[in-house]
Amino acid sequence: MSAGRPDDRAPDLGLRPATAADAPVLCALATQVFLDTYATEGIRPAMAREVEQHFSTSAWLAELARPEVRIEVVERAGHLVAFSQLLLGERHPLVGNAPAAELSRLYVQAPFQRRGVGRLLLDRAEAVARSEGFATLWLTAWVGNARALAFYRRQRYRELGSTDYEFENERFENRLFARSLSEPRPLHNSPRAG
Ligand SMILES: CC(C)(COP(=O)(O)OP(=O)(O)OC[C@H]1O[C@@H](n2cnc3c(N)ncnc32)[C@H](O)[C@@H]1OP(=O)(O)O)[C@@H](O)C(=O)NCCC(=O)NCCS
Repeated sequence: MSAGRPDDRAPDLGLRPATAADAPVLCALATQVFLDTYATEGIRPAMAREVEQHFSTSAWLAELARPEVRIEVVERAGHLVAFSQLLLGERHPLVGNAPAAELSRLYVQAPFQRRGVGRLLLDRAEAVARSEGFATLWLTAWVGNARALAFYRRQRYRELGSTDYEFENERFENRLFARSLSEPRPLHNSPRAG
């Protein structure tokens, strides 16, 4: 697909900030994408508790009320198909002292992956962070998440090292990626219609 051809565009995909009314849908969408990605050998009790803790409707309402959190959703015909969650002002020792924001989640529903939706949300997260005065966007991805590692490498994020994510005394190694928001963005394609 070449960039910018009118028939490459997906006018039915809309990008907008999430509102409190989206909380129940975010609950279902986040749970589905999380389990598709990480529950590849069935579901353990700890994983079920993690879903309940982070992805309940009340948890999303709490996230949406935090002033430093920005959640964007991609919508198609009244259905949410993807979302991103940005944490403004979040620092990490591997990132240094520059004012930074963390992309804490980027979730695209499986039927909509590989159509440019992740890239669309990443572009928006970078634009929001930049407009709020942050110089760096960083994120972490689990070492076993080959899709995410390939995606961020393709987006020219730099790997700065490893960091552990802990839940209920279990540790999961993540790679930390970062990008300077002053670097020009390479040309890219528009999202593809389904
Ligand atoms: C990782 C994720 C966000 C990527 O979103 P996406 O919408 O599929 O990505 P895009 O279509 O915008 O991809 C842009 C480019 O990144 C690269 N890319 C994306 N997925 C890839 C994969 N599975 N393997 C190799 N390259 C990939 C490709 O170069 C792609 O362009 P191309 O398909 O035209 O060659 C998506 O797969 C996802 O939501 N996964 C489940 C949740 C998750 O792991 N989130 C990230 C960790 S929080």
